Amino acid sequence: MSQAVLIARRVFPEVVERLREHFTVETNEPDEVWPQAELIRRLQGKAGVFVTGSELIDATLLAACPDLKAVCSMAVGYNNIDLPACTARRVLVSNAPDVLTETTADFGFALMMATARRISESEHFLRRGEWTKWSVDMFAGSDVHGATLGVLGMGRIGQAIARRGALGFGMKVVYHNRTKLDDSIEVALRARWLAKDDVLREADHLVIVVPYSAASHHLVGEAELALMKQTATLTNIARGGVVDDAALARALRERRIAAAGLDVFEGEPGVHPELLQVPNVVLTPHIASASLPTRRAMANLAVDNLLAALGTGPHKGKPPTALNPAVLSPT
Ligand code: DGY
Repeated sequence: MSQAVLIARRVFPEVVERLREHFTVETNEPDEVWPQAELIRRLQGKAGVFVTGSELIDATLLAACPDLKAVCSMAVGYNNIDLPACTARRVLVSNAPDVLTETTADFGFALMMATARRISESEHFLRRGEWTKWSVDMFAGSDVHGATLGVLGMGRIGQAIARRGALGFGMKVVYHNRTKLDDSIEVALRARWLAKDDVLREADHLVIVVPYSAASHHLVGEAELALMKQTATLTNIARGGVVDDAALARALRERRIAAAGLDVFEGEPGVHPELLQVPNVVLTPHIASASLPTRRAMANLAVDNLLAALGTGPHKGKPPTALNPAVLSPT
């Protein structure tokens, strides 16, 4: 009898078919967000699970699902998966890096530009029928070209954003990352490493791209916002919780920074009610990687990993983007 796997959210039909060629597959066609108990119930007897960035895979779930051997996510961020707990139980975990880098960087740059140039705010004004005359400073924002781009988190996506800013828009790039990039990469991106507080002080446009962890929780809060220029913008495409949304809403309301662009939120899909009230913020529902080709590539990479982790497919035994590949080695 073939092994059984669960696809925890609705995905593309061809992705389901690829898994059906090898496994008995349970899907979630209504695309329900299952409570944890329901996810555990559906995982009974399953050897693998295809997840997104939303399903919580923690020690409790692992203890309740002893047959589980592989957790393969179509997201690059894996803060929803307790990696040490999976490793301790020899459950293979994979994420989906690289395939979404350029698409996510496109979006981060677009959100930063929409924020700087007040695109949402002015569109809402127009839709409300309030546009009756031209005025010299109507929705005058700040320039992106030639400005200073601050990047917090200079991984693959941060570097792709920096490249757009430096090479496409003549921006000066300053960044903070735990590890400084090699000199050759800094030269190519025209980027300079600074202490975090100095990035906050110098940036005209701050873009946040750090992974979420206990260490990055509220990386930007009241104190950090106070360091920023009053004319600066902040764009968060990282994870909710990296920015203190309540502190940000206050800073926006009091015009202590000019504007923000947010694709991720603390407690999403909930959004802090004060963020919904302030006009100088562009809000999008966690769609930075959402181009159809990229979402397909992310889902297919998760399938490649799941097939390989469960001992089949072209990468049999060697999931291409495993986070804990050692669990597959013989003990
Ligand atoms: C990711 O891949 O981490 C994106 O944020 C989608 O969850």
